[in-house]
Amino acid sequence: MIYSRRISVFIKHALFVTMCFGMWVLVSLFGVMQAQASDKVLLEKGEKLVRQHCTRCHVVGNLNKYGGIGSTPSFGAMKSLPDWQDRFATFWSLLPHPSVVQVEGLSPERPKGLLATTKQIFLNMDDVDAIQAYVDTVPVKDLGGGVNYR
Ligand code: HEC
Repeated sequence: MIYSRRISVFIKHALFVTMCFGMWVLVSLFGVMQAQASDKVLLEKGEKLVRQHCTRCHVVGNLNKYGGIGSTPSFGAMKSLPDWQDRFATFWSLLPHPSVVQVEGLSPERPKGLLATTKQIFLNMDDVDAIQAYVDTVPVKDLGGGVNYR
């Protein structure tokens, strides 16, 4: 029968389309999972670097609630400033970091004769990306009013 053949062709097409759609769903799910996995890797790397280097002076979220150096602003407090992203985008060039932090390819070379009074921190641009991704997740500290930062 011509009709049943048409129907079976229709069913074949429908099956084919469903299969294609199914594959598309699988492939995109896989993509999302991969993206999430790489986000996780980036955040873990960022946390490790921040814990290792920045908590020496800064209090950072729950990493070192009672640590840091009293005169150094905490990450949470700095994130309450409207331009915190700009500050974190270039932190290595802002005082006091240039004497401690060196970013490969960006920081000027340390003068050979200059004594290092503390352990130097060497980072590359990938490290900086990871640090910034982690800083995004640090909770903002509500200081209960505007902060006057110079
Ligand atoms: C040797 C101590 C020390 C270390 C290590 C350190 N910081 Fe800082 N940081 C400071 C001090 C002190 C200030 C406050 C400077 C000021 O009051 O102008 C500061 C300020 C900042 C600021 C704000 C700068 C500005 O001028 O607005 C950012 C952003 C920052 N730190 C990020 C970081 C990150 C990220 C790390 C880790 C890679 C780090 N710091 C490691 C001491 C340190």
